[in-house]
Amino acid sequence: MAIDYSTKIPNNVDLAANKTLQRALEQWQPHYLDWWREVGPEASTAHEVYLRTAVSVDAKGWAHFGYVKMPDYRWGIFLTPPEPDRKIAFGTHRGQPVWNEVPGEYRSTLRRIIVTQGDTEPASVEQQRALGQTCPSLYDLRNLYQVNVEEGRHLWAMVYLLHAYFGRDGREEGEALLQRRSGDADKPRILGAFNEKTPDWLSFFMFTFLTDRDGKYQLAALAESGFDPLARTTRFMLTEEAHHLFVGESGVARIIARTLEVMKELKTDDPGKVRAAGAIDLPTLQRYLNFHFSVTLDLYGSEVSSNAASFYSAGLKGRFGEEKIADDHLLADSSYDVPRLDGTAIGVRHEKAQLALNERLRDDYIADCQAGVDRWNKLVDKAQVGQRLTLPHKGFHRKIGAFAGAQVSPTGKVLTAPEWAAGERQWLPTDDDHAFVQSLMKPVTAVGKYASYISPPRVGIDNQPLDFAYVRLSA
Ligand SMILES: [Fe+2]
Ligand SMILES: [Fe+2]
Repeated sequence: MAIDYSTKIPNNVDLAANKTLQRALEQWQPHYLDWWREVGPEASTAHEVYLRTAVSVDAKGWAHFGYVKMPDYRWGIFLTPPEPDRKIAFGTHRGQPVWNEVPGEYRSTLRRIIVTQGDTEPASVEQQRALGQTCPSLYDLRNLYQVNVEEGRHLWAMVYLLHAYFGRDGREEGEALLQRRSGDADKPRILGAFNEKTPDWLSFFMFTFLTDRDGKYQLAALAESGFDPLARTTRFMLTEEAHHLFVGESGVARIIARTLEVMKELKTDDPGKVRAAGAIDLPTLQRYLNFHFSVTLDLYGSEVSSNAASFYSAGLKGRFGEEKIADDHLLADSSYDVPRLDGTAIGVRHEKAQLALNERLRDDYIADCQAGVDRWNKLVDKAQVGQRLTLPHKGFHRKIGAFAGAQVSPTGKVLTAPEWAAGERQWLPTDDDHAFVQSLMKPVTAVGKYASYISPPRVGIDNQPLDFAYVRLSA
């Protein structure tokens, strides 16, 4: 499964053997580059960025590091090797050999799944396009750009499937993926959270910690798919996704570390004093966490979903860790608890497990987020400041599902409209918070220097020192 870099489109799928497909993708490639130049990272095309590029799809040693100008990045098509004799692991086709062609009956469903996933990839690049102008360090700038080029590659991963398996419809979808724009009133991206702005680096780190983690769970569910090319594509995407989660978790951790340092130096927990020292107070961090967590929870959709049930029974989209779960993998007779809102009481209701798959994936995701927050709290506890970060209740600030239309506090109390209005400013970022965080967004581009609100990382990228020129900025 070596990657062929001698061709226009690097790949490990022997693209040269399928001239029609190769030609179609070679026609899409310049459109992709136009999109990158138009709405990709602002004013970045001449920077030399210390990026990693996939050289093989093995679990170990797939990365090669070197300086690249981003438009020259070798975006390509990388699938993990096929598993010999792989069988469908769930649903009504369980035990049958996986499909290497799209089953006719599932064609439109599968296309919709791929397009929905594919749409999030360019969307996040668009959301993050201005951040390079205000980087807290060259180290962080490089990480942003690494995330951006890999999200671009994830678009390639999905467009490859559309071109290779969905004929003319697939090619049209591939073009449409380059036409929609995050936040655009007329042609927005498909999912809500991908039309929000990512206006500052705190938002970026929260987004990569929380919203890229949604990506991890969606990709993991697709990595179980009976449609083998989709499973193999998403398996390789997951190895890239792990870096995005690292960028988010370590980015927030470094902001917390700096905040705690300032609190200790000044012997204060007064947010005003912390802010005056150029750090971000813990209550503001908590409000950003609340916002990004709640909008990301909506990405999983309604608690009860017949679509999710049909994706599962058809063998198209599994559960997180499907093959490691010990049950019948049909879910015909089992149940799963979903939240139920009963007036002002939040309870649970037993739902058919097949119908509750969105909720189950959301719960798996929440547990993973909690583990990350626990790691942050270790820093906080060590500093003995008497405050901690918490994930809000899953009903907080939701727009989709059982809690849509209700007003739920971060601790899970159903509120009246006046109660919500009285609390909202403590729970969600205010205009003042945004303005304050924005005021910190001054670019720091000297080698080895870091902005006032973030600690340096503990180690560099690819064993390079912290004062390494991770980006060589063009004049
Ligand atoms: Fe992605
Ligand atoms: Fe990602």
